[in-house]
Amino acid sequence: LKEEGLNAIRESQTLAALQQHRVLYLGKKGPIQEVMKSMKDLSAEERPKFGAAVNEIKSQIAAAIESKWAELEAKEMEDRLEREKIDITLEGYHPTVGNLHPLTLVQQELEDLFIGLGYTIGEGPEIEFDLYNFERANIPKGHPARDMQDTFYINAEELLRTHTTAIQTRQLEAYAPKLPIKVVCPGKVYRRDDDDATHSHQFTQMEGLVVAENITLSDLKGTLEFMAKKMFGEKRVIRFRPSYFQFTEPSVEVDVSCHICNGKGCPVCKGTGWIEILGAGMVHPNVLEMAGYDSKKCSGFAFGVGIERVAMLKYGIDDIRHFYTNDLRFLKTFTRFE
Ligand code: PHE
Repeated sequence: LKEEGLNAIRESQTLAALQQHRVLYLGKKGPIQEVMKSMKDLSAEERPKFGAAVNEIKSQIAAAIESKWAELEAKEMEDRLEREKIDITLEGYHPTVGNLHPLTLVQQELEDLFIGLGYTIGEGPEIEFDLYNFERANIPKGHPARDMQDTFYINAEELLRTHTTAIQTRQLEAYAPKLPIKVVCPGKVYRRDDDDATHSHQFTQMEGLVVAENITLSDLKGTLEFMAKKMFGEKRVIRFRPSYFQFTEPSVEVDVSCHICNGKGCPVCKGTGWIEILGAGMVHPNVLEMAGYDSKKCSGFAFGVGIERVAMLKYGIDDIRHFYTNDLRFLKTFTRFE
């Protein structure tokens, strides 16, 4: 019985098997208990000797279980360490981290700049009514000026907006007759155009609009010069050239002194020292009146800046199509820097 028990214990391969043997040999219903029962048939002298012998066997088995237990436990731990081993010299997994699109970076930089001046952000739909894109911008149906901004028509009344001036006319209507308005409106715009290095049938603009009492052209000039310095460097100055838009009077085209040659003349500014960046002017009285403002009691300025144009000048990009073809080698080079 002793040999049988010790053998069984020696051959146990797992802690679970050993536990079964523990229950069998040391528990209440095993073969040892069975043997103990036969003690009652023995004489009074033999009984203590027999009992001592059985107890001896019992404690040998208990000792064997204990040492085997420790052995199996150590082995199990070793197996587990082997199984869960991590090779810390293996090269790690590099998650691909995205970055913002250069147009988003420039748009956000402009937004931050104007929010700092107390402006809010305005938005409008890309599929726009003829009403807000043209008529409220003082460009009635049949007006030849529409030819310059031919676009994609959904039907007779709806089109893809050709400029963020469509958001301007919506903002005016929404605010009227409250004063003041100070808002910038970024968004995608569309024109029927043949794509090349400097033209795209879809591009991005940001409209600026301020309406209050006694707003003048010098307010516009101060605002745009501040913007030019923030975007292209503190040394920049701007100049106004007379121009024409139906929705502003007077209208101007705005040049920034070249940030590459500091105004001396280089290929970027075609030797002139100046780079055209946007169109602007004083909001036309008709535009104010159509939106519900009394043009004798307030005045305003507006400007429309091309985000692609600013990004191309700022980062030295020579082809507008780079922004839309999603070449990661191009897109990966842009992080936010001043
Ligand atoms: N909407 C004009 C354009 O797209 C730009 C502009 C905006 C001019 C606001 C004057 C005032 O060319």
